[in-house]
Amino acid sequence: MKKIWADTAPSNIALIKYMGKKEGTGNLPDNPSLSYTLPHLKTKVEIESGDYPEDMWEPLVEEGYTTPNLAPKESQRFLDHFQTIKSHFNIEDNFLIRSANNFPQDCGLASSASSFAALTKCSVKSFTELKNLEAPTLDEVASLSRKGSGSSCRSFMEPWCMWSEERILKVNFSYTKLLHMVVVSDDSKKKVSSSLAHKKVSTSMLYQGRTERAITRMGLLIEALNLKNWSKAFELCWAEFWDMHALFETSDPSFGYFTKGSLDILNQSKSIWTKIGDGPLITMDAGPNVHLLFRPEQLPMAESLKTKFENCNYRVFSSGI
Ligand code: DP6
Repeated sequence: MKKIWADTAPSNIALIKYMGKKEGTGNLPDNPSLSYTLPHLKTKVEIESGDYPEDMWEPLVEEGYTTPNLAPKESQRFLDHFQTIKSHFNIEDNFLIRSANNFPQDCGLASSASSFAALTKCSVKSFTELKNLEAPTLDEVASLSRKGSGSSCRSFMEPWCMWSEERILKVNFSYTKLLHMVVVSDDSKKKVSSSLAHKKVSTSMLYQGRTERAITRMGLLIEALNLKNWSKAFELCWAEFWDMHALFETSDPSFGYFTKGSLDILNQSKSIWTKIGDGPLITMDAGPNVHLLFRPEQLPMAESLKTKFENCNYRVFSSGI
């Protein structure tokens, strides 16, 4: 009998970045990372059982979700991960998988984090039911998910998640509910995927010392967030994303993601700090778009910045702003 399982998973934004990994280890990172979970940016996955000759993927068409247009290579990566989970549970049947994001894919909004987390969650749900197994622990599900895409393992904890080697850890700071905004300067597909960036950064002369810098910055950021030292947290996040983008730009050959719009958005966001000594945490992933995190009491600031960016014709995705 045909059955459909469904699940969703959120995206996350790293403030200390996962960049550089040990190849052939199922995405074990060279350095620990720390992220804030983004429940308003999510992926939904459906898995349908039936008489399929092989596993197949198709876009999920549902209100509130953007119908994704995955290149064959991308859907294959998704299906390969599904196969890994099937093998883990000794499942031999084939299935039809549908998925969609409620935000544009592949443009620096960490769609692989939410999509691989949702696929893993949904697969584990269906296979444990089919095999009548006890549900695995969150750690086990996250570690399976990490094998598909590293950053997806951080989408299993909220609001903050630290990932180091094989472990994920929920971290408690008093900043539990931040406002998030991502300002999209360009939503075309990235020319260099994050997975490729992880390989390329090892060719940068700056890569030496990167692990130590990330570990030091992580310690300082945890201390700043614990002490509610927002401006120190801002400085550390700012330095961290520039560190990562400097690795990109100093790789051999160099590559990068900045557009004219990225610089404009960064300047406009940072100028608030220069003017009033307060502002959002600012970061960028391996893409041209800019992520901003605000404390709840900074809502008026976030609202006025959002209007400013929309008036400049940037698309903005935000949580409750
Ligand atoms: C820049 O998790 O997309 O977003 O493990 O190869 O799938 P793979 O890489 P991915 O890398 C994310 C890199 C980043 C920083 C981060 O999220 O920590």
